[in-house]
Amino acid sequence: MKYTLIEPGDMVVSCREEAVLETLLGSCIGLALYDQDAQAGGVVHVLLPSGPTHKMEETPLYYAQSAIPALIDALLEKGATMSGIVAHMAGGAHIVTKGAIQDLNIGKRNTIKAKEILDAYAIPIISMDVGGSVGRRLKLTLPTGEVEIKRSRGAKGGLIGDKDEPRPKAPRLDENSLRKMASELKPDSNVAIRALQLVRGDDICFRELEELILKDQVLCGRILGIVNSARYGLQRQITKLSHAINLLGTTTFKKIVMQACIKGLYSKPFKGYELDDQAFFHHAVACAELSQFLADRLAIADPEEAYLAALMHDIGKILVEQNFTNTFITVKMSASIKRIPFFLAEKECLGTDHAELGKFVAQEWGLPNALVRAISYHHEPHKTDDSKELVGIVHVSNYICNMLGIGLGCDTMSNILDTDTLALLKMDEGTVTEIIEYVPRILFTHGQ
Ligand SMILES: [Fe+2]
Ligand SMILES: [Fe+2]
Repeated sequence: MKYTLIEPGDMVVSCREEAVLETLLGSCIGLALYDQDAQAGGVVHVLLPSGPTHKMEETPLYYAQSAIPALIDALLEKGATMSGIVAHMAGGAHIVTKGAIQDLNIGKRNTIKAKEILDAYAIPIISMDVGGSVGRRLKLTLPTGEVEIKRSRGAKGGLIGDKDEPRPKAPRLDENSLRKMASELKPDSNVAIRALQLVRGDDICFRELEELILKDQVLCGRILGIVNSARYGLQRQITKLSHAINLLGTTTFKKIVMQACIKGLYSKPFKGYELDDQAFFHHAVACAELSQFLADRLAIADPEEAYLAALMHDIGKILVEQNFTNTFITVKMSASIKRIPFFLAEKECLGTDHAELGKFVAQEWGLPNALVRAISYHHEPHKTDDSKELVGIVHVSNYICNMLGIGLGCDTMSNILDTDTLALLKMDEGTVTEIIEYVPRILFTHGQ
């Protein structure tokens, strides 16, 4: 059975074949259309309700207004008929905000627009789960047309587990114990730590970097694997680091080195956070690309520093997964029942949270203070008294990736977007929309 994950702003259609089409959703809308007689179906993941005409012509799959007709046309081409098509809809989650902008309302506007278009085509909606502050998975299995919509915080109202179950308590750890825990998390080699320290500098000597990387065959292989992946579209296979630097340029090469240094740690399933095996890495790289773009565009932070900070912002989750396996369920229950941000539930139940643990890791790895701050305050940007722009960029990038369901986990929609940070970055609802439109360009295929 062929499995396809549909990224934001994309669509896949299939007919009379065995296929599973799945998409992960925050405030976006996922729509599955299916025609039983033609055994044809398709899924589209739209980011926004509508856009200016030229944009809807250029990138029709980003907007409900142009994507839904495009999906219908594709199904008609596969032999579906207008009277046979039915719809299943999911997503449109509400982004919880605090600060100057009370409500971005994107999820609601997406839902209203999608319903309006389906209505205009007289396509019945067979199943629908929209709104609330919860991420969702929409899965269409073909050729049967079976549809599953799953909430990322458990079924029915977001509760997980039985309220009456005895809850294991996490032992409270002091700062020294937490730092010791962080000291045990290492990239795959000391070479990777040194490489991470080297790549963020401006006056980096590539000869020195190359010599360093060559000492670690696993890291070297991983770098070449990323260089040769579909994302970089190189015409021929690259087998030497120096060729990769020449062909891709130093900025891209540095980003690839950063990815390779943490890929081993990140590429596995995170059962507690309900992340699939590549989802954590995918989320980290998407946030990093977006942070670099924002730093560049707003010209208020170093783009490479922003890239590395965002790449590492959730690294503390690895320690939560490893060290609090038995008590993690209490975090989920607390976040669900009390409706509090997930990182606060971590603090309450574990005595620490992934941001604090990430801070200790960054300090242990000898990363500069600005990066330590960005990791430490990525959910609470108002708390930093320094590097405010860098922290803000990572905060906003993380939330935009969450809105689009990139690396959807159980905590994705339960944190709060601090809209005062948008003001600090001189962003408003209009620029948020532009940034959302930019994201599909930075996404990459799984298996990189
Ligand atoms: Fe986080
Ligand atoms: Fe994140």
